[in-house]
Amino acid sequence: MRPSLSYLLSYSVLGVVAASSDDTASTCQALASALPEYVFYPETDTYNASITSYPFIQLRLTPNCIVRPKSAQDVSTTVKILRDTGCTKFAIKGGGHNANVGYNNIEDGVTIDMQSLNAVEVLPNVARVGGGALWQNVYDAVEPHNVSVLGGRIGVVGVPGFLTGGGIAFFSPERGWSCDYVVNFQVVLASGEIVNANSTARPDLFAALKGGQNNFGIVTRFDLKTFPQGPIWGGRTAYAPEAATDLVQGFTEFKSGEYDPYAAGWTTFRYNGSTREVTPITILWYTKPELAPGGLGPLTSVTPKQAGPPMQVAYAGEFARNASRSVKASNSNTIWATTTFRISPTIVGKIYAKWRELVPQLCDIYAYANPASELTFQSLAPPPGFGSHPNSLGFAADSTPHKDLVFLQIIFYFTDSSASEGFNNALKEFIKAFDDLAEEEGVKHNFVYLNFAAWFQDPLSGYGKEQLKKLKRVSKRYDPRGFFQEQLGEGFKIFKRNGWGNWNHH
Ligand SMILES: Cc1cc2nc3c(=O)[nH]c(=O)nc-3n(C[C@H](O)[C@H](O)[C@H](O)COP(=O)(O)OP(=O)(O)OC[C@H]3O[C@@H](n4cnc5c(N)ncnc54)[C@H](O)[C@@H]3O)c2cc1C
Ligand SMILES: *[C@@H]1O[C@H](CO)[C@@H](O)[C@H](O)[C@H]1NC(C)=O
Ligand SMILES: *[C@@H]1O[C@H](CO)[C@@H](O)[C@H](O)[C@H]1NC(C)=O
Ligand SMILES: *[C@@H]1O[C@H](CO)[C@@H](O)[C@H](O)[C@H]1NC(C)=O
Ligand SMILES: *[C@@H]1O[C@H](CO)[C@@H](O)[C@H](O)[C@H]1NC(C)=O
Ligand SMILES: *[C@@H]1O[C@H](CO)[C@@H](O)[C@H](O)[C@H]1NC(C)=O
Repeated sequence: MRPSLSYLLSYSVLGVVAASSDDTASTCQALASALPEYVFYPETDTYNASITSYPFIQLRLTPNCIVRPKSAQDVSTTVKILRDTGCTKFAIKGGGHNANVGYNNIEDGVTIDMQSLNAVEVLPNVARVGGGALWQNVYDAVEPHNVSVLGGRIGVVGVPGFLTGGGIAFFSPERGWSCDYVVNFQVVLASGEIVNANSTARPDLFAALKGGQNNFGIVTRFDLKTFPQGPIWGGRTAYAPEAATDLVQGFTEFKSGEYDPYAAGWTTFRYNGSTREVTPITILWYTKPELAPGGLGPLTSVTPKQAGPPMQVAYAGEFARNASRSVKASNSNTIWATTTFRISPTIVGKIYAKWRELVPQLCDIYAYANPASELTFQSLAPPPGFGSHPNSLGFAADSTPHKDLVFLQIIFYFTDSSASEGFNNALKEFIKAFDDLAEEEGVKHNFVYLNFAAWFQDPLSGYGKEQLKKLKRVSKRYDPRGFFQEQLGEGFKIFKRNGWGNWNHH
Protein backbone atom coordinates (compact mmCIF):
# COMPACT_ATOMS: atom_id res chain seq x y z
CA MET A 1 0.00 0.00 0.00
CA ARG A 2 1.32 3.43 -0.95
CA PRO A 3 1.25 6.43 1.38
CA SER A 4 -0.57 9.57 0.27
CA LEU A 5 0.88 11.29 -2.77
CA SER A 6 1.43 14.57 -0.95
CA TYR A 7 3.67 12.83 1.53
CA LEU A 8 5.64 11.17 -1.22
CA LEU A 9 6.16 14.46 -3.03
CA SER A 10 7.37 16.13 0.12
CA TYR A 11 10.45 13.95 0.03
CA SER A 12 13.42 15.20 -1.90
CA VAL A 13 13.77 13.18 -5.09
CA LEU A 14 17.53 13.33 -4.72
CA GLY A 15 17.30 11.67 -1.34
CA VAL A 16 16.51 8.26 -2.80
CA VAL A 17 19.51 8.28 -5.12
CA ALA A 18 22.63 6.91 -3.50
CA ALA A 19 25.17 9.62 -2.79
CA SER A 20 28.43 9.27 -4.66
CA SER A 21 31.66 9.19 -2.66
CA ASP A 22 32.57 12.58 -4.20
CA ASP A 23 29.50 14.07 -2.56
CA THR A 24 30.40 12.48 0.74
CA ALA A 25 33.98 13.75 0.51
CA SER A 26 32.73 17.29 0.02
CA THR A 27 30.27 16.85 2.92
CA CYS A 28 33.20 15.81 5.11
CA GLN A 29 35.08 18.91 3.96
CA ALA A 30 32.13 21.13 4.84
CA LEU A 31 31.89 19.47 8.27
CA ALA A 32 35.63 19.86 8.82
CA SER A 33 35.55 23.56 8.04
CA ALA A 34 32.59 24.11 10.40
CA LEU A 35 33.91 21.87 13.20
CA PRO A 36 37.65 21.67 12.52
CA GLU A 37 38.57 19.93 15.78
CA TYR A 38 35.87 17.28 15.65
CA VAL A 39 36.07 15.67 12.22
CA PHE A 40 38.36 12.65 11.81
CA TYR A 41 39.54 10.79 8.73
CA PRO A 42 40.76 7.21 8.18
CA GLU A 43 44.33 6.40 9.20
CA THR A 44 44.22 8.65 12.26
CA ASP A 45 44.35 7.49 15.88
CA THR A 46 41.02 9.03 16.80
CA TYR A 47 39.25 7.52 13.80
CA ASN A 48 40.72 4.10 14.55
CA ALA A 49 39.77 4.37 18.21
CA SER A 50 36.17 5.12 17.23
CA ILE A 51 36.03 2.09 14.95
CA THR A 52 37.60 -0.35 17.40
CA SER A 53 35.25 0.83 20.16
CA TYR A 54 32.39 -1.10 18.52
CA PRO A 55 32.03 -4.26 20.61
CA PHE A 56 31.28 -6.66 17.74
CA ILE A 57 33.47 -6.95 14.66
CA GLN A 58 30.63 -6.82 12.14
CA LEU A 59 29.96 -3.22 13.26
CA ARG A 60 33.43 -1.90 12.39
CA LEU A 61 32.52 -0.28 9.06
CA THR A 62 34.70 2.51 7.70
CA PRO A 63 32.88 5.80 7.07
CA ASN A 64 34.45 8.55 4.95
CA CYS A 65 34.75 10.63 8.11
CA ILE A 66 33.66 10.57 11.74
CA VAL A 67 32.24 13.62 13.52
CA ARG A 68 32.53 13.71 17.28
CA PRO A 69 30.39 16.65 18.42
CA LYS A 70 31.09 18.10 21.86
CA SER A 71 27.83 20.00 22.35
CA ALA A 72 24.21 20.11 21.23
CA GLN A 73 25.22 23.12 19.10
CA ASP A 74 27.82 20.98 17.29
CA VAL A 75 25.18 18.32 16.64
CA SER A 76 22.89 21.01 15.25
CA THR A 77 25.66 22.27 12.94
CA THR A 78 26.29 18.70 11.76
CA VAL A 79 22.59 18.05 11.07
CA LYS A 80 22.22 21.26 9.06
CA ILE A 81 25.22 20.46 6.87
CA LEU A 82 24.08 16.87 6.26
CA ARG A 83 20.52 17.98 5.54
CA ASP A 84 21.61 20.69 3.10
CA THR A 85 23.51 18.15 1.00
CA GLY A 86 20.15 16.44 0.41
CA CYS A 87 21.91 13.13 -0.10
CA THR A 88 24.86 12.30 2.16
CA LYS A 89 24.03 9.23 4.19
CA PHE A 90 24.96 9.10 7.86
CA ALA A 91 24.76 6.99 10.99
CA ILE A 92 24.55 7.87 14.70
CA LYS A 93 26.64 5.97 17.22
CA GLY A 94 25.71 6.08 20.91
CA GLY A 95 27.34 3.26 22.88
CA GLY A 96 27.56 1.17 19.68
CA HIS A 97 25.84 -1.90 21.18
CA ASN A 98 23.08 -2.45 18.66
CA ALA A 99 24.18 -5.60 16.81
CA ASN A 100 22.64 -4.78 13.43
CA VAL A 101 25.10 -3.82 10.69
CA GLY A 102 24.64 -0.22 9.55
CA TYR A 103 22.48 0.87 12.51
CA ASN A 104 25.27 2.70 14.34
CA ASN A 105 27.96 3.05 11.64
CA ILE A 106 28.16 3.37 7.87
CA GLU A 107 30.41 2.44 4.97
CA ASP A 108 30.78 5.43 2.58
CA GLY A 109 29.04 8.09 4.59
CA VAL A 110 29.39 10.10 7.79
CA THR A 111 29.24 8.60 11.28
CA ILE A 112 28.26 10.93 14.11
CA ASP A 113 29.97 9.44 17.16
CA MET A 114 28.23 10.84 20.25
CA GLN A 115 30.86 9.63 22.74
CA SER A 116 32.16 13.10 23.68
CA LEU A 117 28.69 14.06 24.95
CA ASN A 118 29.09 11.92 28.04
CA ALA A 119 28.80 14.39 30.91
CA VAL A 120 26.52 13.50 33.83
CA GLU A 121 25.26 16.28 36.10
CA VAL A 122 23.50 15.18 39.29
CA LEU A 123 20.79 17.53 40.57
CA PRO A 124 18.19 16.87 43.27
CA ASN A 125 15.87 14.13 41.87
CA VAL A 126 17.31 14.38 38.35
CA ALA A 127 20.48 13.35 36.54
CA ARG A 128 21.27 15.19 33.29
CA VAL A 129 23.02 12.71 31.05
CA GLY A 130 24.80 13.51 27.77
CA GLY A 131 23.40 11.91 24.60
CA GLY A 132 26.49 9.72 24.14
CA ALA A 133 27.13 8.53 27.72
CA LEU A 134 27.54 4.91 28.74
CA TRP A 135 25.60 3.50 31.70
CA GLN A 136 28.81 3.14 33.72
CA ASN A 137 29.29 6.93 33.47
CA VAL A 138 25.82 7.37 34.96
CA TYR A 139 26.11 4.87 37.84
CA ASP A 140 29.53 6.27 38.77
CA ALA A 141 28.10 9.79 38.95
CA VAL A 142 24.82 9.11 40.79
CA GLU A 143 25.79 6.42 43.31
CA PRO A 144 27.93 8.70 45.54
CA HIS A 145 24.66 10.59 46.13
CA ASN A 146 22.96 7.37 47.29
CA VAL A 147 20.54 7.46 44.37
CA SER A 148 20.17 5.32 41.27
CA VAL A 149 18.51 5.39 37.86
CA LEU A 150 16.78 2.93 35.55
CA GLY A 151 19.65 1.93 33.27
CA GLY A 152 21.58 -0.85 31.62
CA ARG A 153 22.78 -3.87 33.56
CA ILE A 154 26.12 -3.92 31.75
CA GLY A 155 28.13 -0.72 32.11
CA VAL A 156 29.55 -0.49 28.58
CA VAL A 157 26.10 -0.27 27.00
CA GLY A 158 25.14 3.17 25.70
CA VAL A 159 22.45 5.38 27.21
CA PRO A 160 20.87 6.71 23.98
CA GLY A 161 20.08 3.48 22.11
CA PHE A 162 18.95 1.78 25.30
CA LEU A 163 16.56 4.58 26.38
CA THR A 164 15.07 5.31 22.95
CA GLY A 165 14.34 1.59 22.55
CA GLY A 166 12.65 1.11 25.99
CA GLY A 167 15.30 -0.16 28.41
CA ILE A 168 15.00 -2.97 30.95
CA ALA A 169 16.87 -2.14 34.17
CA PHE A 170 17.76 -3.75 37.51
CA PHE A 171 14.75 -1.97 39.05
CA SER A 172 12.31 -2.43 36.14
CA PRO A 173 10.17 -5.16 37.74
CA GLU A 174 9.20 -2.57 40.38
CA ARG A 175 9.49 0.72 38.45
CA GLY A 176 8.89 0.04 34.76
CA TRP A 177 10.68 0.75 31.48
CA SER A 178 13.77 2.93 31.74
CA CYS A 179 12.39 5.33 29.12
CA ASP A 180 9.51 6.12 31.49
CA TYR A 181 11.98 7.68 33.95
CA VAL A 182 13.12 10.20 31.33
CA VAL A 183 11.58 13.52 32.36
CA ASN A 184 12.99 15.51 29.45
CA PHE A 185 14.80 14.84 26.17
CA GLN A 186 16.92 17.59 24.65
CA VAL A 187 16.85 16.80 20.96
CA VAL A 188 18.19 18.23 17.70
CA LEU A 189 15.46 18.11 15.05
CA ALA A 190 15.95 17.80 11.28
CA SER A 191 15.71 21.59 11.10
CA GLY A 192 18.79 21.85 13.30
CA GLU A 193 16.68 23.38 16.07
CA ILE A 194 17.60 22.27 19.62
CA VAL A 195 14.37 21.65 21.54
CA ASN A 196 13.05 19.99 24.68
CA ALA A 197 10.49 17.21 24.61
CA ASN A 198 8.75 16.56 27.92
CA SER A 199 5.28 16.16 29.40
CA THR A 200 4.42 19.82 28.84
CA ALA A 201 6.55 20.80 25.83
CA ARG A 202 6.00 18.67 22.68
CA PRO A 203 4.36 15.78 24.57
CA ASP A 204 3.78 13.92 21.26
CA LEU A 205 7.52 13.93 20.54
CA PHE A 206 8.19 13.01 24.19
CA ALA A 207 6.10 9.83 23.83
CA ALA A 208 7.52 9.04 20.39
CA LEU A 209 11.12 9.12 21.63
CA LYS A 210 10.23 6.44 24.20
CA GLY A 211 10.42 3.52 21.78
CA GLY A 212 10.78 5.29 18.41
CA GLN A 213 14.59 5.41 18.59
CA ASN A 214 16.30 7.60 15.95
CA ASN A 215 13.32 8.41 13.74
CA PHE A 216 12.72 11.97 15.03
CA GLY A 217 15.98 13.61 15.97
CA ILE A 218 19.32 13.22 17.71
CA VAL A 219 19.00 13.24 21.48
CA THR A 220 21.74 15.35 23.03
CA ARG A 221 20.66 15.10 26.68
CA PHE A 222 18.46 12.81 28.75
CA ASP A 223 17.13 14.14 32.07
CA LEU A 224 16.51 11.07 34.22
CA LYS A 225 14.47 10.78 37.37
CA THR A 226 16.66 9.46 40.22
CA PHE A 227 15.51 7.63 43.35
CA PRO A 228 17.11 6.72 46.70
CA GLN A 229 18.71 3.30 46.43
CA GLY A 230 21.19 1.25 48.41
CA PRO A 231 22.98 -1.93 47.38
CA ILE A 232 21.22 -4.92 45.81
CA TRP A 233 21.73 -8.69 45.99
CA GLY A 234 22.74 -10.78 43.01
CA GLY A 235 25.26 -12.55 40.81
CA ARG A 236 25.97 -14.94 38.00
CA THR A 237 25.64 -18.69 38.44
CA ALA A 238 26.72 -21.35 35.95
CA TYR A 239 25.24 -24.84 36.25
CA ALA A 240 26.31 -28.28 35.16
CA PRO A 241 24.87 -29.26 31.74
CA GLU A 242 22.44 -31.75 33.31
CA ALA A 243 20.73 -28.90 35.21
CA ALA A 244 19.19 -27.57 31.98
CA THR A 245 15.83 -29.31 32.33
CA ASP A 246 15.42 -28.21 35.93
CA LEU A 247 16.32 -24.66 35.00
CA VAL A 248 13.69 -24.62 32.25
CA GLN A 249 11.22 -25.77 34.89
CA GLY A 250 12.59 -23.26 37.41
CA PHE A 251 12.13 -20.37 35.00
CA THR A 252 8.60 -21.52 34.19
CA GLU A 253 7.75 -21.67 37.90
CA PHE A 254 9.36 -18.29 38.53
CA LYS A 255 7.17 -16.76 35.78
CA SER A 256 4.02 -18.59 36.84
CA GLY A 257 4.31 -17.86 40.57
CA GLU A 258 3.24 -14.72 42.38
CA TYR A 259 4.76 -11.61 40.80
CA ASP A 260 7.73 -10.30 42.78
CA PRO A 261 8.64 -6.67 41.96
CA TYR A 262 12.18 -7.05 43.35
CA ALA A 263 13.15 -10.11 41.26
CA ALA A 264 15.19 -9.29 38.15
CA GLY A 265 17.55 -10.97 35.72
CA TRP A 266 17.64 -13.66 33.09
CA THR A 267 18.13 -17.35 32.38
CA THR A 268 20.50 -18.33 29.56
CA PHE A 269 21.48 -21.56 27.84
CA ARG A 270 24.83 -21.36 26.10
CA TYR A 271 25.90 -23.89 23.49
CA ASN A 272 29.59 -24.13 22.65
CA GLY A 273 30.14 -25.42 19.11
CA SER A 274 33.56 -26.93 19.91
CA THR A 275 32.69 -28.77 23.13
CA ARG A 276 29.10 -29.42 21.98
CA GLU A 277 27.97 -28.79 25.53
CA VAL A 278 25.22 -26.65 26.96
CA THR A 279 26.03 -24.45 29.94
CA PRO A 280 22.94 -23.17 31.74
CA ILE A 281 23.48 -19.78 33.37
CA THR A 282 21.42 -17.43 35.50
CA ILE A 283 22.16 -13.78 36.08
CA LEU A 284 19.87 -12.65 38.86
CA TRP A 285 19.30 -9.66 41.11
CA TYR A 286 17.04 -9.03 44.06
CA THR A 287 16.68 -5.32 44.71
CA LYS A 288 15.51 -5.67 48.34
CA PRO A 289 18.56 -7.59 49.60
CA GLU A 290 17.21 -8.39 53.06
CA LEU A 291 14.42 -10.50 51.49
CA ALA A 292 16.54 -12.30 48.84
CA PRO A 293 16.00 -14.56 46.97
CA GLY A 294 12.23 -13.96 47.29
CA GLY A 295 10.41 -14.94 44.09
CA LEU A 296 13.74 -16.05 42.54
CA GLY A 297 13.63 -19.21 44.69
CA PRO A 298 12.63 -21.61 41.88
CA LEU A 299 15.80 -20.50 40.02
CA THR A 300 18.32 -20.23 42.86
CA SER A 301 17.42 -23.70 44.17
CA VAL A 302 18.42 -25.46 40.93
CA THR A 303 21.49 -27.73 41.14
CA PRO A 304 24.16 -28.92 40.37
CA LYS A 305 25.97 -25.60 40.19
CA GLN A 306 29.48 -25.05 38.92
CA ALA A 307 31.96 -23.56 41.37
CA GLY A 308 31.93 -19.77 41.23
CA PRO A 309 31.73 -16.65 43.35
CA PRO A 310 28.73 -16.57 45.73
CA MET A 311 25.86 -14.13 45.39
CA GLN A 312 26.85 -10.70 46.68
CA VAL A 313 25.34 -7.52 48.00
CA ALA A 314 26.74 -4.55 46.08
CA TYR A 315 25.72 -1.38 44.27
CA ALA A 316 24.16 -1.70 40.81
CA GLY A 317 27.14 0.15 39.35
CA GLU A 318 29.56 -2.51 40.65
CA PHE A 319 27.53 -5.32 39.08
CA ALA A 320 27.38 -3.30 35.84
CA ARG A 321 31.15 -2.69 35.87
CA ASN A 322 32.09 -6.31 36.48
CA ALA A 323 29.69 -7.53 33.81
CA SER A 324 31.38 -5.26 31.25
CA ARG A 325 34.57 -7.33 31.40
CA SER A 326 33.01 -10.17 29.44
CA VAL A 327 31.67 -7.91 26.66
CA LYS A 328 34.52 -5.49 26.02
CA ALA A 329 36.72 -6.03 22.98
CA SER A 330 34.99 -9.09 21.62
CA ASN A 331 36.54 -10.26 18.40
CA SER A 332 33.46 -12.19 17.42
CA ASN A 333 30.60 -11.46 15.14
CA THR A 334 27.63 -11.28 17.48
CA ILE A 335 24.12 -11.24 16.02
CA TRP A 336 20.75 -11.63 17.66
CA ALA A 337 16.98 -11.64 17.30
CA THR A 338 14.03 -11.74 19.69
CA THR A 339 10.42 -12.77 20.05
CA THR A 340 7.71 -12.61 22.70
CA PHE A 341 5.17 -15.11 24.03
CA ARG A 342 2.80 -15.63 26.96
CA ILE A 343 4.06 -17.92 29.68
CA SER A 344 2.44 -21.37 29.82
CA PRO A 345 3.45 -24.55 31.67
CA THR A 346 5.08 -25.98 28.53
CA ILE A 347 6.21 -23.25 26.12
CA VAL A 348 9.68 -22.53 27.56
CA GLY A 349 10.47 -26.25 27.53
CA LYS A 350 9.31 -26.64 23.92
CA ILE A 351 11.37 -23.68 22.74
CA TYR A 352 14.42 -24.88 24.63
CA ALA A 353 14.06 -28.38 23.11
CA LYS A 354 13.74 -26.91 19.59
CA TRP A 355 16.89 -24.81 20.05
CA ARG A 356 18.70 -27.85 21.52
CA GLU A 357 17.69 -29.86 18.45
CA LEU A 358 18.62 -27.24 15.81
CA VAL A 359 21.72 -25.61 17.22
CA PRO A 360 24.23 -28.53 17.03
CA GLN A 361 23.42 -29.10 13.34
CA LEU A 362 23.98 -25.43 12.58
CA CYS A 363 27.21 -25.21 14.57
CA ASP A 364 28.55 -28.34 12.85
CA ILE A 365 27.98 -26.81 9.41
CA TYR A 366 29.92 -23.69 10.40
CA ALA A 367 32.44 -25.35 12.71
CA TYR A 368 35.28 -23.42 10.98
CA ALA A 369 33.79 -20.19 12.38
CA ASN A 370 34.08 -21.20 16.10
CA PRO A 371 30.38 -20.80 16.69
CA ALA A 372 28.44 -20.55 19.91
CA SER A 373 24.82 -19.72 20.61
CA GLU A 374 22.82 -18.40 23.54
CA LEU A 375 19.12 -18.64 24.24
CA THR A 376 17.97 -16.23 26.95
CA PHE A 377 14.58 -15.82 28.62
CA GLN A 378 13.52 -12.77 30.59
CA SER A 379 10.57 -10.62 31.60
CA LEU A 380 9.32 -7.40 30.04
CA ALA A 381 8.75 -4.32 32.22
CA PRO A 382 5.41 -3.02 33.50
CA PRO A 383 3.73 -0.29 31.41
CA PRO A 384 3.32 3.29 32.71
CA GLY A 385 0.23 3.33 34.93
CA PHE A 386 -2.92 5.46 34.64
CA GLY A 387 -2.08 9.15 34.83
CA SER A 388 1.56 8.63 33.85
CA HIS A 389 2.84 9.96 30.58
CA PRO A 390 2.65 7.25 27.90
CA ASN A 391 5.50 5.65 25.99
CA SER A 392 5.16 4.22 22.47
CA LEU A 393 5.60 0.54 23.27
CA GLY A 394 1.90 -0.20 22.93
CA PHE A 395 0.97 -1.70 26.32
CA ALA A 396 -2.19 -0.32 27.92
CA ALA A 397 -2.00 1.11 31.45
CA ASP A 398 -4.04 -1.79 32.82
CA SER A 399 -2.17 -4.55 30.97
CA THR A 400 0.34 -6.80 32.76
CA PRO A 401 3.04 -7.79 30.24
CA HIS A 402 5.63 -7.99 33.06
CA LYS A 403 3.64 -10.86 34.58
CA ASP A 404 2.25 -12.63 31.53
CA LEU A 405 4.91 -12.27 28.87
CA VAL A 406 8.40 -13.62 28.30
CA PHE A 407 10.77 -12.38 25.64
CA LEU A 408 13.62 -14.46 24.39
CA GLN A 409 16.86 -13.45 22.79
CA ILE A 410 18.76 -15.80 20.54
CA ILE A 411 22.41 -14.97 19.84
CA PHE A 412 24.97 -16.45 17.47
CA TYR A 413 28.68 -15.81 17.99
CA PHE A 414 31.16 -16.67 15.22
CA THR A 415 34.66 -15.53 14.37
CA ASP A 416 34.72 -16.01 10.60
CA SER A 417 32.69 -13.31 8.84
CA SER A 418 32.18 -15.46 5.76
CA ALA A 419 29.59 -17.35 7.82
CA SER A 420 27.45 -14.18 8.27
CA GLU A 421 24.84 -15.01 5.67
CA GLY A 422 24.41 -18.51 7.05
CA PHE A 423 23.93 -17.31 10.61
CA ASN A 424 21.59 -14.49 9.59
CA ASN A 425 19.44 -17.01 7.72
CA ALA A 426 19.57 -19.27 10.75
CA LEU A 427 18.36 -16.44 12.99
CA LYS A 428 15.29 -16.11 10.79
CA GLU A 429 14.69 -19.86 10.80
CA PHE A 430 15.08 -20.20 14.57
CA ILE A 431 12.71 -17.28 15.24
CA LYS A 432 10.20 -18.80 12.82
CA ALA A 433 10.47 -22.17 14.55
CA PHE A 434 9.95 -20.58 18.01
CA ASP A 435 7.02 -18.50 16.75
CA ASP A 436 5.43 -21.61 15.23
CA LEU A 437 5.60 -23.35 18.62
CA ALA A 438 4.04 -20.33 20.33
CA GLU A 439 1.33 -20.12 17.65
CA GLU A 440 0.49 -23.80 18.07
CA GLU A 441 -0.08 -23.24 21.78
CA GLY A 442 -1.90 -19.96 21.18
CA VAL A 443 0.63 -17.99 23.24
CA LYS A 444 2.37 -15.92 20.54
CA HIS A 445 2.51 -12.17 21.22
CA ASN A 446 3.24 -9.45 18.62
CA PHE A 447 5.65 -7.39 20.74
CA VAL A 448 9.22 -7.45 19.39
CA TYR A 449 11.58 -5.73 21.83
CA LEU A 450 13.42 -3.19 19.67
CA ASN A 451 16.69 -3.31 21.60
CA PHE A 452 17.06 -7.01 20.78
CA ALA A 453 15.40 -7.02 17.36
CA ALA A 454 17.25 -8.14 14.23
CA TRP A 455 17.30 -6.05 11.07
CA PHE A 456 14.70 -8.33 9.44
CA GLN A 457 12.22 -7.79 12.28
CA ASP A 458 9.73 -4.94 12.66
CA PRO A 459 9.49 -3.80 16.29
CA LEU A 460 7.60 -0.58 15.47
CA SER A 461 4.73 -2.58 13.92
CA GLY A 462 4.84 -4.76 17.02
CA TYR A 463 3.73 -1.70 19.06
CA GLY A 464 0.36 -1.97 17.28
CA LYS A 465 -1.48 0.00 14.56
CA GLU A 466 -2.51 2.86 16.86
CA GLN A 467 1.04 3.50 18.03
CA LEU A 468 2.48 3.24 14.54
CA LYS A 469 -0.05 5.81 13.32
CA LYS A 470 1.01 8.18 16.11
CA LEU A 471 4.69 7.67 15.30
CA LYS A 472 3.99 8.50 11.64
CA ARG A 473 2.19 11.70 12.64
CA VAL A 474 5.08 12.76 14.88
CA SER A 475 7.59 12.06 12.11
CA LYS A 476 5.64 14.18 9.61
CA ARG A 477 5.28 16.97 12.14
CA TYR A 478 8.90 17.22 13.31
CA ASP A 479 10.66 15.94 10.19
CA PRO A 480 8.33 16.95 7.34
CA ARG A 481 10.92 16.33 4.61
CA GLY A 482 11.89 12.91 5.90
CA PHE A 483 15.54 13.68 6.65
CA PHE A 484 15.79 10.91 9.26
CA GLN A 485 13.84 8.51 7.04
CA GLU A 486 16.03 9.15 3.97
CA GLN A 487 19.53 10.16 4.95
CA LEU A 488 20.02 8.25 8.18
CA GLY A 489 21.32 4.93 6.80
CA GLU A 490 19.88 1.76 8.29
CA GLY A 491 17.55 1.50 11.28
CA PHE A 492 14.05 0.58 12.37
CA LYS A 493 12.26 3.06 10.09
CA ILE A 494 8.74 4.35 10.53
CA PHE A 495 8.32 4.60 6.77
CA LYS A 496 9.78 1.65 4.94
CA ARG A 497 11.26 1.96 1.52
CA ASN A 498 10.32 -0.64 -1.01
CA GLY A 499 12.65 -0.24 -3.95
CA TRP A 500 13.23 3.15 -5.54
CA GLY A 501 11.19 5.81 -3.88
CA ASN A 502 8.21 3.64 -3.00
CA TRP A 503 7.22 4.11 0.59
CA ASN A 504 5.27 1.33 2.17
CA HIS A 505 2.96 1.42 5.09
CA HIS A 506 3.82 -1.54 7.26
C1 LIG B 1 26.14 -6.48 26.50
C2 LIG B 1 24.77 -5.92 26.30
C3 LIG B 1 23.94 -5.76 27.40
C4 LIG B 1 22.67 -5.24 27.26
N1 LIG B 1 21.88 -5.10 28.37
C5 LIG B 1 20.63 -4.62 28.23
C6 LIG B 1 19.77 -4.49 29.36
O1 LIG B 1 20.14 -4.78 30.50
N2 LIG B 1 18.52 -4.05 29.15
C7 LIG B 1 18.07 -3.68 27.92
O2 LIG B 1 16.92 -3.27 27.82
N3 LIG B 1 18.86 -3.76 26.83
C8 LIG B 1 20.12 -4.23 26.96
N4 LIG B 1 20.92 -4.36 25.85
C9 LIG B 1 20.41 -3.93 24.54
C10 LIG B 1 20.70 -2.44 24.35
O3 LIG B 1 19.63 -1.71 24.91
C11 LIG B 1 20.83 -2.09 22.87
O4 LIG B 1 21.94 -2.79 22.36
C12 LIG B 1 20.98 -0.59 22.64
O5 LIG B 1 20.93 -0.35 21.25
C13 LIG B 1 22.29 -0.04 23.16
O6 LIG B 1 22.36 1.35 23.03
P1 LIG B 1 23.70 2.02 22.45
O7 LIG B 1 23.59 3.50 22.62
O8 LIG B 1 24.89 1.33 22.99
O9 LIG B 1 23.53 1.60 20.93
P2 LIG B 1 23.95 2.18 19.50
O10 LIG B 1 24.21 0.98 18.69
O11 LIG B 1 24.99 3.23 19.57
O12 LIG B 1 22.60 2.86 19.05
C14 LIG B 1 21.42 2.11 18.84
C15 LIG B 1 20.50 2.91 17.91
O13 LIG B 1 20.16 4.14 18.54
C16 LIG B 1 20.46 5.25 17.68
N5 LIG B 1 21.06 6.31 18.48
C17 LIG B 1 22.25 6.28 19.12
N6 LIG B 1 22.47 7.46 19.75
C18 LIG B 1 21.38 8.24 19.51
C19 LIG B 1 21.02 9.55 19.90
N7 LIG B 1 21.83 10.29 20.68
N8 LIG B 1 19.84 10.04 19.48
C20 LIG B 1 19.02 9.29 18.69
N9 LIG B 1 19.32 8.04 18.29
C21 LIG B 1 20.49 7.52 18.70
C22 LIG B 1 21.44 4.73 16.65
O14 LIG B 1 21.23 5.36 15.41
C23 LIG B 1 21.16 3.24 16.59
O15 LIG B 1 20.29 2.90 15.54
C24 LIG B 1 22.21 -4.86 25.98
C25 LIG B 1 23.04 -5.03 24.88
C26 LIG B 1 24.32 -5.54 25.03
C27 LIG B 1 25.21 -5.70 23.84
C1 LIG C 1 44.51 2.90 11.65
O1 LIG C 1 44.08 1.62 11.20
C2 LIG C 1 44.53 1.31 9.88
C3 LIG C 1 43.82 0.04 9.43
O2 LIG C 1 43.91 -0.94 10.43
C4 LIG C 1 46.06 1.20 9.89
O3 LIG C 1 46.52 0.92 8.58
C5 LIG C 1 46.64 2.52 10.37
O4 LIG C 1 48.04 2.41 10.52
C6 LIG C 1 46.04 2.95 11.70
N1 LIG C 1 46.49 4.30 11.98
C7 LIG C 1 46.93 4.68 13.17
C8 LIG C 1 47.38 6.10 13.28
O5 LIG C 1 46.96 3.92 14.13
C1 LIG D 1 25.22 7.60 51.51
O1 LIG D 1 24.98 6.54 52.40
C2 LIG D 1 26.10 6.19 53.18
C3 LIG D 1 25.80 4.92 53.95
O2 LIG D 1 24.52 4.98 54.51
C4 LIG D 1 26.46 7.39 54.09
O3 LIG D 1 27.60 7.09 54.86
C5 LIG D 1 26.75 8.59 53.20
O4 LIG D 1 26.96 9.76 54.00
C6 LIG D 1 25.59 8.89 52.26
N1 LIG D 1 25.99 9.90 51.30
C7 LIG D 1 25.21 10.94 50.97
C8 LIG D 1 25.77 11.91 49.96
O5 LIG D 1 24.11 11.10 51.46
C1 LIG E 1 10.00 21.17 29.19
O1 LIG E 1 10.37 22.00 28.12
C2 LIG E 1 10.13 23.37 28.35
C3 LIG E 1 10.37 24.13 27.04
O2 LIG E 1 11.72 24.03 26.64
C4 LIG E 1 11.01 23.83 29.50
O3 LIG E 1 10.77 25.20 29.78
C5 LIG E 1 10.70 22.99 30.74
O4 LIG E 1 11.61 23.30 31.77
C6 LIG E 1 10.86 21.51 30.39
N1 LIG E 1 10.46 20.66 31.50
C7 LIG E 1 11.31 19.77 32.04
C8 LIG E 1 10.72 18.90 33.10
O5 LIG E 1 12.47 19.67 31.71
C1 LIG F 1 33.55 -7.30 41.10
O1 LIG F 1 34.85 -7.75 40.80
C2 LIG F 1 35.78 -7.57 41.86
C3 LIG F 1 37.15 -7.95 41.35
O2 LIG F 1 37.14 -9.20 40.77
C4 LIG F 1 35.33 -8.41 43.06
O3 LIG F 1 36.22 -8.21 44.13
C5 LIG F 1 33.94 -7.97 43.45
O4 LIG F 1 33.45 -8.80 44.50
C6 LIG F 1 32.98 -8.06 42.28
N1 LIG F 1 31.69 -7.52 42.66
C7 LIG F 1 30.55 -8.05 42.27
C8 LIG F 1 29.29 -7.38 42.75
O5 LIG F 1 30.46 -8.99 41.53
C1 LIG G 1 34.22 -23.37 23.84
O1 LIG G 1 34.89 -24.08 24.85
C2 LIG G 1 36.30 -24.10 24.68
C3 LIG G 1 36.87 -25.07 25.70
O2 LIG G 1 36.40 -24.73 26.99
C4 LIG G 1 36.83 -22.69 24.82
O3 LIG G 1 38.23 -22.66 24.67
C5 LIG G 1 36.19 -21.82 23.75
O4 LIG G 1 36.58 -20.47 23.94
C6 LIG G 1 34.66 -21.91 23.82
N1 LIG G 1 34.12 -21.24 22.66
C7 LIG G 1 33.25 -20.24 22.72
C8 LIG G 1 32.84 -19.64 21.43
O5 LIG G 1 32.80 -19.86 23.78
